[in-house]
Amino acid sequence: MATVGKTETSDIAVHWKEEGYVQPPAKFVGQANLADPSIADRFSLENFPECFREYADMLSWDQSWHTTLDTSHPPFWKWFVGGKLNACYNCVDRHLPKHKNKAAFIFVPEAETEPTYTLTYQELYVRVNETAAVLRDFCGLKPGDRVTIHMPMILELPITMLACARIGVTHSVVFGGFSGEAAGTRAADSGSTVMIYADAYYRNGKLIDHKASADIAVKTAAAEGVTIDKVLVWRRRDGEDLSNTPMVPGRDFYMEELLKNYRRVKVAPVSVDAEHPLFLMYTSGSTGKPKGCQHRTGGYLAYVTATAKYYQDIHPEDVYWCMADIGWITGHSYIVYGPLSLGATNVLFEGVPNYPDAGRPWRIAEQLDVNIFHTSPTAIRMLRKAGPNEPQKYNYHFKHMTTVGEPIEPESWRWYHEVVGKGEAVIVDTWWQTETGGFLITTKPALDPMKAGSAGPAALGIFPVIFDEAGNEIAAGSGRAGNLGIRNPWPSIMQTILNNDDRFVQQYYAKFCKNPKSTDWRDWPYFASDGAVLAADNYYRILGRVDDVINTAGHRLGTKEIESACLTVPQVAEAAVVPVVDEIKGRVPAIYVALKPGVTDTKQVTEDIIRAVETMIGKIARPKGVHIVADLPKTRSGKIMRRILAAISNRVDTGDVTTLANPEIVEQIRKQVQGDGPVDLQDAPEDIKRFGEQE
Ligand code: WT7
Repeated sequence: MATVGKTETSDIAVHWKEEGYVQPPAKFVGQANLADPSIADRFSLENFPECFREYADMLSWDQSWHTTLDTSHPPFWKWFVGGKLNACYNCVDRHLPKHKNKAAFIFVPEAETEPTYTLTYQELYVRVNETAAVLRDFCGLKPGDRVTIHMPMILELPITMLACARIGVTHSVVFGGFSGEAAGTRAADSGSTVMIYADAYYRNGKLIDHKASADIAVKTAAAEGVTIDKVLVWRRRDGEDLSNTPMVPGRDFYMEELLKNYRRVKVAPVSVDAEHPLFLMYTSGSTGKPKGCQHRTGGYLAYVTATAKYYQDIHPEDVYWCMADIGWITGHSYIVYGPLSLGATNVLFEGVPNYPDAGRPWRIAEQLDVNIFHTSPTAIRMLRKAGPNEPQKYNYHFKHMTTVGEPIEPESWRWYHEVVGKGEAVIVDTWWQTETGGFLITTKPALDPMKAGSAGPAALGIFPVIFDEAGNEIAAGSGRAGNLGIRNPWPSIMQTILNNDDRFVQQYYAKFCKNPKSTDWRDWPYFASDGAVLAADNYYRILGRVDDVINTAGHRLGTKEIESACLTVPQVAEAAVVPVVDEIKGRVPAIYVALKPGVTDTKQVTEDIIRAVETMIGKIARPKGVHIVADLPKTRSGKIMRRILAAISNRVDTGDVTTLANPEIVEQIRKQVQGDGPVDLQDAPEDIKRFGEQE
C-alpha cells in the first residue's frame, strides 16, 4: 500500500532494517537514577499535565505556581503559571552550601600543551556575579532586554549566559562558527543593542581572529536598522592581544578592563515569571530567514533538569562530557542548563574531535575519568573512519553514552557501542529539536532495551503520533512511514517565534490542528517536520526532515538561506539547493545555478558563490558541488523542481519529467553531473525522496 511520500514498506527497509534488542549492562541498571518502572504510570496520559509537577519540583522556586498548564490561548501554552524563579540561581547559587568546591566546569583547551582549567561552583558564582554587574551597571541592561552572544567554546560563554539569566536578560547565542553576517542578522532580528564576543580561539590548531566577525556583525545589523552600541570582548588569554582587529573606541570594551570596576560585586538574582523568556535560539526553517525560537524559564529548566537526570543519568559524582557546541540547543540544554541545575561536573572542550588526531577524545576521557559521554553520529562516523582502533588504546570507562542530532545507522551504532563504549555503556539515541527544548524520544536507559538505528519509545509524559498527509494516524507496526507529531504540549516546548506568532502557528500547528477554535490541547498536535516509522514495540525510527532543511553534520541549514546567499552573486540568475547523501556528515548541500546571459567566467562565479555562502552563513554550509547549468528544471507555472535536482545529485530515478516546461534540460543536467556513462541508480533515504515534495 502506498504511503506518505509514495514510499513502500520495502523502501523503508532499504533505509535500514529493524535490529534486535541490546540490554543495558547490569552494572548501569544497579546505579541508575531512573530505575523504578512504575514511573511510567505516573506519566500516563490520564495524569497529564499534572505529572510534570514532579519535574518542576526539582527546581528551587521563589514563588510556587498555581496552574500547571494553561491552555486558554492555543497553541501558546503556559506552564507553571504564577511561579517565580531564577535560572542562574538554580544552576549556581543553590549548589553552594554543599558543593561550592566541586568542579562545575573542567575546561580543556584545544592545544594539548595547555593545561586544563577547573572552575568550581564557588568560582563560577563569583565570575557570573561580576559579569552580571557589568551587564546591568555598565551596559544598563534590564530584565526583558535581549543580548546577542557570538562566542566559541570557552568558559566565558556559559558564564555570560548565566549572567544574563541572573538579571532576567534574554540571551541569544549564535554558534561561534557562524559568520559575522549571520550573527549580525540574528542580532538585528532580536533587537539586541549589546553583542558579546571573544577576541580569538583555537580550532584545528589555528588561532581564529573572532573579533573580526564583530565588526561585520555590527555593520550587518546597522544595515538592517539596528544599532549595536556596545561590543564586549572577552580575551581568550588575559593580558594578551590575540586578535589583530582594532577595538573601536566608545563601542568596543575588553571585559577584562570592565571587570576591574566590579570586583566581587554581588548581583541579586532577579526573580522572574515562569513564562519569562530565558533565551532565543535561531534555527533554519522553510523560509530564507532564520527564526528566533523563544524558550521560557520555568518549564524549560524543569524539563531539561529532569531529562538530564533521568536520561543522561547524571549523578553529582559523575564526570559528564557533552562534545556538542554550546551555540546549539544541545549545548544550551545538556551542557549548560540541565547539568548545572543538577550540580554536575561538566567538561568544556574548545577543540574539534579529531585534532591533532582521532585519539584526542579518548585521551581526554582517560585523563578526566569521564564516565558520561555525549556526541553526534557525524562525530562518531568521523572518529571511526580516522581511528577505528583508537578507543582501545586508552583506559577510560563510560557508563553512559548519547547520540543525537541525526539518524545513526546500525553499523556506526555498533562501533560506538562495542569499541567506544567497550560494551560497558548504555546508549541513548535521543530525538528532539531546537523547538522542543529537550529530549522527546529516547529509551529510559536502565528500563528499556536499546535498538540500534531506532531512537526508542516516547519520553515520559510525551505522546507522539504518526500522521499521513491527510492527518490520519498510522498505526504502530504497519511499516508505513509518516509525519512525526506530538499530541500534547510539554514544559520545554518553545513559546513562539520572536516577532512572528503567525509563523509559529503555521509552521508547527496549522497542518494537523483539528479545530482552530478549540482550547483543548488534544486538538493541537505539534508537527515536527520529520518523517518516522513506528514499530510494533512502540520504538520510533526517525527518517529525517520532510521539509527543505538540510541536516549536515547534525547542523540545520535552510536551503532557502543558502539560495539567498547564492543570489547575492550578481551573475547568478537562479539558484536551487538540494541535499546530497554524505558518508560522514549525513547530508551536505549541493548548489545548482543558472547564470545571467553573457557570463563566461564560470570558475570565478563558482568561487564567488562558495565565498558568498561562507560569508553569509558560515563554513559549515560549504557546498559539496556547485553546478552551473543552462537552465533549472521548471514546471509550466515556473516553479523550480528541486526534487529532480536532488534525484540527480543522489543518483536516484528522476521519475516522470514529461510535464515540465523544459523536460530536455533534465537529461542535459544529469549528464553534466553524473557523466555520460551508465549510472547505477541508488535507492534513497526517505528525506531525499520527499525533498521538494511540498513545493
Ligand atoms: C532535527 C533537529 C536535537 C538537538 C540537535 C539538533 C534531527 C535530532 C535525532 C535523532 C534522528 C534526529 C531531526 C530533527 N534529529 N535528533 N536522535 N535521530 N534525527 O537540533 O538543529 O533543531 O535539528 O535533527 O531531523 O528535526 P536541531
